[in-house]
Amino acid sequence: MTRIPLMAGNWKMNLDHLEAIHLVQGLHMALTDANFDYSKTEVVVIPPFTDIRSVQTVVEGDEMGIKYGAQDVSVHASGAYTGEVSANMLKKLGVSYIVVGHSERREYHGECDQKVNQKARVALENGMTPIICCGEGLEVRKAGEHVPHVLAQIDGALAGFSAEEVAKSVIAYEPIWAIGTGEVATPEDAQEVCAAIRVRISELYDEETAAATRILYGGSVKSSNVADIMAKADVDGALVGGASLEAGEFSKIARFDA
Ligand code: PGA
Repeated sequence: MTRIPLMAGNWKMNLDHLEAIHLVQGLHMALTDANFDYSKTEVVVIPPFTDIRSVQTVVEGDEMGIKYGAQDVSVHASGAYTGEVSANMLKKLGVSYIVVGHSERREYHGECDQKVNQKARVALENGMTPIICCGEGLEVRKAGEHVPHVLAQIDGALAGFSAEEVAKSVIAYEPIWAIGTGEVATPEDAQEVCAAIRVRISELYDEETAAATRILYGGSVKSSNVADIMAKADVDGALVGGASLEAGEFSKIARFDA
């Protein structure tokens, strides 16, 4: 079972729609110059909602191999939910991926595993791939409880999913202490938790499902550290924050083995 590497750039609340167009064009140019093969690595940008239509226009207009995602989705299909964006609205814009349960949503918007589970389900039901985030804070890591902590998040996030739905989903392990801090987990730390997640999927489902599911690492990934992280057997890609805001840097991350 070969898992195609996935390099996803989470822009968070950065860049207006004009800056978004500029970044996507720059990324496309940098990858084209390097003869990038999109069939070997998926490259995904995840802009704020207000940029998605502009990103769609440049990606489709220039037939770019870059895909795009959203940073969140409503659990509701439509109706009186001020400020929310539905899965169907995202699907209409050609969105392929939806990040669910990012630690910033969990922390600032009180999202629990059950909400993460509902959002991942909504993404799948609308034909998009959830990128389900999990990860421990510093206190949990210091206590040596990171593996059980993350596995409990995984159990909650995948509750009620079929094996096919899990295999279609993407998991992103992001230790909170490594997000935006410049402090990267070692490749061994990343491997330890990504491998434990894969074992858990094989226990909850089967070996085949575990072997098919892509598991990313996220937290201060840069072009200078991505190769060592990607060399680990159970790491299938990266969810990149800060370093995805610069075309040249993110193109190097996407070419991690170049
Ligand atoms: P970072 O963010 O790369 O800036 O650490 C990662 C993330 O939050 O997905």
